[in-house]
Amino acid sequence: MIPPTIEWISGTEGNILPGHVRMIDQTRLPLELSYLETADVETIWRAIKTLQVRGAPAIGIAAGFGVLAGIQSMNTDDPAELAAEAHRVADHLATSRPTAVNLFWALDRMRAVASAGDVSVGSLKERLAREALAMAEEDAAMCRAIGEHGLTLLDGVDTVLTHCNAGSLATARFGTALSPVYAAREKGRVLHVYADETRPLLQGARLTAWELMHAGVEVTLICDNTAAHVMKSGRVGAVLVGADRIVANGDAANKIGTYGLAVLARAHNIPFYVLAPTSTMDLGLSHGGQIPIEERAAEEVTEGFGTRTAPEGVKVYAPAFDVTPAELITAMVCEKGIIRPPYHDALEKLSGAL
Ligand code: MRU
Repeated sequence: MIPPTIEWISGTEGNILPGHVRMIDQTRLPLELSYLETADVETIWRAIKTLQVRGAPAIGIAAGFGVLAGIQSMNTDDPAELAAEAHRVADHLATSRPTAVNLFWALDRMRAVASAGDVSVGSLKERLAREALAMAEEDAAMCRAIGEHGLTLLDGVDTVLTHCNAGSLATARFGTALSPVYAAREKGRVLHVYADETRPLLQGARLTAWELMHAGVEVTLICDNTAAHVMKSGRVGAVLVGADRIVANGDAANKIGTYGLAVLARAHNIPFYVLAPTSTMDLGLSHGGQIPIEERAAEEVTEGFGTRTAPEGVKVYAPAFDVTPAELITAMVCEKGIIRPPYHDALEKLSGAL
């Protein structure tokens, strides 16, 4: 398993604060494993925006740490002033990326702690620190549980196909879609993974291939447009993907190209599974058409990684995500277990139990 994607590093023994964030700089992979270390809110905002840290759960964790970074050195004895600053920083971090709901979920948790009660500045800082750390720990635990539940869907399957990176790099540990693969490996079972390259930013090629190879998992990289061919040849037992936002009717937003894979999986009679923690669920939205879809800069398509591959001035449409309709999803997996259609009822029941 690769080193942790994102951590809070405390400056002094026994105290959480002061400290700083240490995150793998994912824009440097696979060429080098290097870290971004910072306690500056603007640097964290930019790290989220530019995908130095990416993947829905990891973005949420980065945002929680961002709020901590923003308030830790505030010199005031007025808790209301500290709370107001926590809200201001949270509001700013919320503008970094629009689609992954984990960002807003994490910021709401930090806001709720900032607003709760009558405590000294010292204890409010301590509570915010504990909340941010708890979100990272909970995420690792949720991902591990997703792996165990997800593996129960893969009896008799020896090859899965995945898209983008929903692995350890996208979470605190273990990943979502890749967690069953790691769980299988721990049990001595070999699951082979086809990783879609994932145009235009190549999260599959740069990140999924890298982290699986590091973990000693059998991985084969394919171009996105090869997926239909490998499915038709009978080489894919299941498709495993993550999600950035799952809404009340079961529609799920994930990296652009996921919807196409779901259509292909249906056409080839291959089960299509979405694996995500409950922090990725936004049951306040009734259908996928309401999910805000991020559009990225044209240059990521026309001259990604510094090489121009399209004519100057060509018009580009570059949504970063698409929405897979619930009816194409065979089952979902969250930390509580397997969720099966009809999703509206199952998700409602699940939210009642949270
Ligand atoms: O643009 P990215 O790299 O942040 O997109 C990430 C994805 O689409 C992942 O599949 C999703 O966040 C799930 S991560 C466990």
